[in-house]
Amino acid sequence: MILALIGFMGTGKSSVGLELAKRLNFDYSDTDNQIEKETGLTISEIFSKDGEAYFRNLESDLLNDLSKSSDLVLSTGGGIVLSSQNRELLQKKTIPILLQASAEEIFNRVKDDSDRPLLSVADPLEKINQLFKKRTKFYNEFDIKIATDKLTIEEVVNQIIGKIIVKGISIEEVSKDG
Ligand code: S3P
Repeated sequence: MILALIGFMGTGKSSVGLELAKRLNFDYSDTDNQIEKETGLTISEIFSKDGEAYFRNLESDLLNDLSKSSDLVLSTGGGIVLSSQNRELLQKKTIPILLQASAEEIFNRVKDDSDRPLLSVADPLEKINQLFKKRTKFYNEFDIKIATDKLTIEEVVNQIIGKIIVKGISIEEVSKDG
């Protein structure tokens, strides 16, 4: 089983993914980190050296490879939903979970980070709103959704586990005492 966390930048996919993997004793992978490891470049370096389209190809190839895994929690880059093939793969081969947050909350969470090339602009909040407009229809194709604004990482993980169980998907949690 692959649990894929999708959603806009700054919705907590990486921190939640790590915690969720621990709770389920699953492997953990993060598409951005893996691309950085494989290329030896940061995401910003890839964007400025080879362009966004090149990055999107790396991202899709990696998703394709990872979709063959089992017992994996996968945190994805916020733009992975732009490709219809990626969306289809996520729906067919994973249990996709959408993490959501308001534009203001996202702005607050990402404003001090430097490795988000799409938000390295004069007015990042305006850019977040523009990207929201373009992407909301794609994110909304996924039906397990969690609004993270007021939740801690642990609360998001609990909600994910709860929603998966409600869907009738059987998972075994690692006991909290180890
Ligand atoms: C992107 C999100 C980033 C990263 C790249 C592009 C996007 O990942 O893949 O900067 O298009 O939304 P995070 O969502 O992990 O920040």
